[in-house]
Amino acid sequence: LRVAILISGGGSNMLALVRSMTGDHPARPVLVASNDPGAAGLARAAELGVPTAAVDHRPFRGDRAAFEAALSEKLDAARPDILCLAGFMRILTPGFVAGWEGRMLNIHPSLLPLYPGLDTHARALAAGDTEAGCTVHEVTAALDDGPLLGQARVPVVPDDTPADLAARVLTMEHRLYPAVLRRFASGDRSPVHLS
Ligand code: GRF
Repeated sequence: LRVAILISGGGSNMLALVRSMTGDHPARPVLVASNDPGAAGLARAAELGVPTAAVDHRPFRGDRAAFEAALSEKLDAARPDILCLAGFMRILTPGFVAGWEGRMLNIHPSLLPLYPGLDTHARALAAGDTEAGCTVHEVTAALDDGPLLGQARVPVVPDDTPADLAARVLTMEHRLYPAVLRRFASGDRSPVHLS
């Protein structure tokens, strides 16, 4: 199977996914694309020999459909079977999402349904949660929703700052997403649980 990965920044989750697709893994990375031509992850993907593309979202100024049409041109050229969002920070229209129904995954740094949206770690700390984590789900039109494919839990440590918790969760993200992708690419939709 052919996997494309969308990033917006450093791409640490993308790297974990690319590095996992070796040996008898049923999938291979065919494209890493970003909405930011300056995304550091693009150079890191290229170092691993993965084709890259960038479509700067800024010239499209809010015309999401036009941005997505330009992005889809790059995606379609790579003929992906699965699309993984990994630190991708643009909201996708229901029309785009519908075209990837059942084939698009996202990782979100909270234990969904808790804390959809941004600033998840600060919100978990403010709520006094004793554990936090990350979730991989199929992407549907509703933000940070969709069928759960995996979840990983980490403890919240007293005096944690959002940065402390983010780092602990990110380490878990790098374990969870590859595990979910391998299972998903094998046709197994049962959820992965790590802690
Ligand atoms: C991180 O906050 C991560 O929790 C979330 O996206 C952000 C950047 O991740 N998934 P990455 O290093 O670009 O994969």
